[in-house]
Amino acid sequence: MAGRFLVMEGIDGSGKSSQVERLRHWLPRSGLMPPGAKLLVTREPGGTQVGEQVCPILLNPRLAVHRRAELLLFAADRAQHVEAKICPALREGHWVLSDRFSGSTVAYQGYGQGCDLELIHTLEQVATGGLTPDLTLWFDLPPQQARARKPPGRQDRFEGAGLEFTQRVAQGFQRLAMERGWWRIPAGEPRGAVEAAVQAACHSAFAT
Ligand code: TYD
Repeated sequence: MAGRFLVMEGIDGSGKSSQVERLRHWLPRSGLMPPGAKLLVTREPGGTQVGEQVCPILLNPRLAVHRRAELLLFAADRAQHVEAKICPALREGHWVLSDRFSGSTVAYQGYGQGCDLELIHTLEQVATGGLTPDLTLWFDLPPQQARARKPPGRQDRFEGAGLEFTQRVAQGFQRLAMERGWWRIPAGEPRGAVEAAVQAACHSAFAT
């Protein structure tokens, strides 16, 4: 495919969503994208109309969704996202930036919830159709620090799952980063330094 696919991964509160917004403005002006290419910014779960319907089921802490059902719902959301949004844009030569992708399922449902990792990898192939990111930025932040950053108030199912759960998820991300060659972003640094690290990663991956 002609375009480029970038993904940001990390635990809740690691600061990736605010860096997605900064990249949204910086990347098209960076000189890295070819003329005519647009940047499509999207997210999982919920990057499509279908995904927006699935999202409230997945994130509602009052719904007792079985973990295998949860796994399949994330996979369904992803399949729709890949088919209806990501691949069409990449085929047109556009660039896609997604706040989370299939690594989140390995980390949250696999390492966090204890779902079978082989099953997750099989489902990953089905949901992505074999699409892999050109660059994944891993926002590395200790769970205690991430928790301290989140304002108190209503939490979704995963944010409310407790520190031990988040620690397992964080270990999952660390492992994935090693196995899949993700780019580590030291997310505990001041915001400007994090932004500089994100831009350096993009230059290193895409400058010709
Ligand atoms: P996210 O949209 O990043 O949360 P927020 O809007 O609060 O930044 O993700 C929602 C939650 O879904 C988050 O806790 C991580 C979880 N999640 C999974 O458990 N598995 C997945 O495959 C994905 C994509 C997200």
